Amino acid sequence: DLGGHDTYMHKEISEQADAVDRALRGRIDDRFSTVHLGGLNLDAREARGVRRVKILGCGTSYHAGQIGAQMIEELARIPSDAEPASEFRYRDPVVDPDTLYVAVSQSGETYDVLAAVQELKRKGARVLGLVNVVGSAIARETDGGIYVHAGPEVCVVSTKCFTNMVVSFALLALHLGRIRDLSVADGKRIIDGLRKLPGQIDEILKGEEEIKKLSAAYADAKSMMFIGRVRGYPVAREASLKLKEVSYIHAEAYPASELKHGPLALIEPAMPTVAIVPDDDLLEKNRAALEEIKARSGRILAVAHQEQEKADHTIIVPKNEPELDPILMGIPLQLLAYHTALALGRDIDKPRNLAKSVTVE
Ligand code: M6R
Repeated sequence: DLGGHDTYMHKEISEQADAVDRALRGRIDDRFSTVHLGGLNLDAREARGVRRVKILGCGTSYHAGQIGAQMIEELARIPSDAEPASEFRYRDPVVDPDTLYVAVSQSGETYDVLAAVQELKRKGARVLGLVNVVGSAIARETDGGIYVHAGPEVCVVSTKCFTNMVVSFALLALHLGRIRDLSVADGKRIIDGLRKLPGQIDEILKGEEEIKKLSAAYADAKSMMFIGRVRGYPVAREASLKLKEVSYIHAEAYPASELKHGPLALIEPAMPTVAIVPDDDLLEKNRAALEEIKARSGRILAVAHQEQEKADHTIIVPKNEPELDPILMGIPLQLLAYHTALALGRDIDKPRNLAKSVTVE
């Protein structure tokens, strides 16, 4: 049931405030400034013993994992990283008993992720799932985990599930952080930020008309560059994947810091750049990257907390806590991908060559 929307992608983008609300419901513990994650199956003693976190997923879920790894590293101070499950399982990885593995998947059926989980279990590792579909294969194979509660996602292109995955990683990071060394004050700060998310998502979605106009200005591009730095980089990667999948426009994502090491050669008026520019301690560095692009006559669309002078257009998003900003900054770019694809007459819910869940190798 499309409920008045013309596509599932549009419906699912529009449902994100409710979806995030569902992910938070019943989990926040104000008394101890933490969250309860019922099915995690990891007691405080085990949580304190974790020396590394390794997150495995594919596509959009891998990008959610990249943001999740940064959140866990920042809030729980555990070295963390994400890797495509499809690569991990073929490189004979060292499986370490002090590493907590997290498999992330919307469908819970992606073969490469499932096979990575089975290989890890065979070697005696502890694997948690961060999954949307209840009772799916990955949910069953893992030792415990978090359901992301995004609700059914029909469009092949993932939107609301990505957002809920990132929110779920924030919950995991907060939970691990509060068991370890995250202060009560910081725990409270993150909880307050989480509670603001649904209202802020609605605020972003109200800007749809403006984003639709912008997409008309960029739909003629043959190729687009997406840049971000640290927290903004996985946001740029996910936005670039979204645009590719649904509009078939070629897109590249780079850390803003890597521009001068090669991709700057691509910048010219026909290659617009989408830049993620949060108001954090890297703002000046990001602005310097915008200047470099402008000096090569590149068009710039910034997603930022305040107007960016060097950008041709700025989409302003509301500010949250810096650790949670990535959750919000990708949302206008889901709409950008959607409206670009619509303007180009693409088959939005079923892009060519793609399947909703990839259950083969
Ligand atoms: O069901 P999963 O989250 O495991 O799926 C992983 C990827 O196949 C999926 O995210 C894919 O990249 C989507 N088409 C993204 O829009």
